[in-house]
Amino acid sequence: MKIHIINGPNLNILGKREPEIYGKSSFHEYLEELKENYQDVEISFFQSNIEGEIVSELQEADDNVDGIILNAAAYTHTSVAIADAIKAIETPVVEVHISNVFERESFRHYSFLSPVVVGTIGGFGLKSYALAIESFLE
Ligand code: DQA
Repeated sequence: MKIHIINGPNLNILGKREPEIYGKSSFHEYLEELKENYQDVEISFFQSNIEGEIVSELQEADDNVDGIILNAAAYTHTSVAIADAIKAIETPVVEVHISNVFERESFRHYSFLSPVVVGTIGGFGLKSYALAIESFLE
């Protein structure tokens, strides 16, 4: 099983970005942990702060992986383009959030992506990504 993780803007500075919300670990540290814990899964990773690059990455991953885990970060709440890309590809996409967006500002309560993904997991810290992998394994 090949799973591609796509992270959006500001997730490259996890560890130093609002650690009280997002935790103290960098994503690269967590990624190593994930690979260790899911040795039968081929996990690849892409991060971009640029909306169009996330659209292109979704299109390119489509022929190459079995599932996509997407944390589009702030673009979750703004991006019709990313929602359209998810609709246009065949690979199932699971939406992930580290924080519980529903206990935060109201502008984080709407997701353009939730209606077009297979499911959404959020609020469990970085463990949300492991839960998304579990959802694919089932
Ligand atoms: C986030 C939640 C978003 O509202 C926010 O803009 C992010 C991260 C999360 O993982 O909790 O950058 O997607």
